Amino acid sequence: MIKHTVFMIPFTKKYQPVDCDNVIGQDKALNDLKYFIEYFKKSKKNAALAYGPSGVGKTCSVYVLADELGLEIVEVNASDFRNKNQINLKIGAAVNQQSLFSKGKVILVDEIDGLSGTKDRGGIQAITKLVEKSTFPMILTATNPWGNKFNALRRKCNLVEFGPLDYLSIFKILKKICDKEKIKYDEDVLKGLARRAGGDARAAVNDLQTLTGRTNELTKGSLDELAERNKEDTIINALIKIFKTTDVKVAKTAFDNVRENLDEQLLWLDENLPKEYTKPADLARAYDKLSKADVFNRRIRRWQHWRFLVYINLLITAGIAVSKDKKYTGMVEYKPTGRILKLWWAKQKSMKKKAIAAKIAEKIHCSQKEALKSTLPYLQIAFIKNKSFRDSLIKELDLSKEEVEWLKK
Ligand SMILES: Nc1ncnc2c1ncn2[C@@H]1O[C@H](COP(=O)(O)OP(=O)(O)O)[C@@H](O)[C@H]1O
Ligand SMILES: [Mg+2]
Repeated sequence: MIKHTVFMIPFTKKYQPVDCDNVIGQDKALNDLKYFIEYFKKSKKNAALAYGPSGVGKTCSVYVLADELGLEIVEVNASDFRNKNQINLKIGAAVNQQSLFSKGKVILVDEIDGLSGTKDRGGIQAITKLVEKSTFPMILTATNPWGNKFNALRRKCNLVEFGPLDYLSIFKILKKICDKEKIKYDEDVLKGLARRAGGDARAAVNDLQTLTGRTNELTKGSLDELAERNKEDTIINALIKIFKTTDVKVAKTAFDNVRENLDEQLLWLDENLPKEYTKPADLARAYDKLSKADVFNRRIRRWQHWRFLVYINLLITAGIAVSKDKKYTGMVEYKPTGRILKLWWAKQKSMKKKAIAAKIAEKIHCSQKEALKSTLPYLQIAFIKNKSFRDSLIKELDLSKEEVEWLKK
């Protein structure tokens, strides 16, 4: 059965929890928030700060709680504000006004860490003042509330932690969706998907939707597909970080979360640099950095001076970032290099070669290295030229189809 993915509602919306029972694995946090709202009048603090990683149910918890308690939510997204005046205008009105239908109100300021950098310091101060004045319970959310700039604000809030979800909780969420959507799945694969999300239910639900959108089925192959795609996503983000900034500090960290090794990073840069840096002078400077990195890379390996890898990283991140005069505004599609595939093939081939050598070594009682060097080349010539020798060797060494193919070349 083929579904039309393009027009589908995101599962994260369609299966957004409608009540507290559907918020999985956050019982303590839900209780704490509920207590804060219900006993707001007696509470010393006017706000609760719900904090924790992305996609664990912070925002949706506030919504289901308000619903269950019959309260109206006034939501303000902190990153919408760029300055103090706007914040006072938008939230200020809400904290003082009576509710429209004279229901009680909860004021939600979602993602306060959206306000970052020194420019927005005024913004956080403004929120802190509003918290002091508010006559309604305020709930703020943040992924990381421990920065210094939140010190004053934190002291005015009840802290409520939303931890990362364990994989069984995520599994439960995914299973429910599969059953409702009639998605076929292998239980182990679904658990694998849950594990891979690293505690982030939103990511897991999104993955489930992309993987099953076409076929309505979750197979073992889906997981591999996901791993490949995630890998590519992170390296592409790294490239964007380097290419689209001239700020050394920003560029420096680009490869921090990338799992590809240095050789692969160099290949990705090599492949995509000319697409981004179209001015010859920029390109020349950038390739100068890249080629130096490549040279150092080989020397480090030869001399085992791993400590110097830091400098290579700087060359290929910050070095390439500042090689351009100005940022290029256009968006180009970054692609993996064809050479990675070639490297992979080369490795596969040498693995077959080694496997055959190992079989020979066992028969003639020598080392694999010795067989590789002195026996295999001659056997191969005879193998190609003489059919009856070929047949007996296949039998003797129990060669697989791929190994036979390799020997024929
Ligand atoms: N604890 C949870 N229980 C059930 N679904 C969840 C949970 N956490 C996240 N989700 C799913 O992820 C989506 C996003 O959750 P959200 O509350 O926006 O996360 P956060 O605000 O912590 O980033 C929800 O709509 C829901 O589909
Ligand atoms: Mg949220």
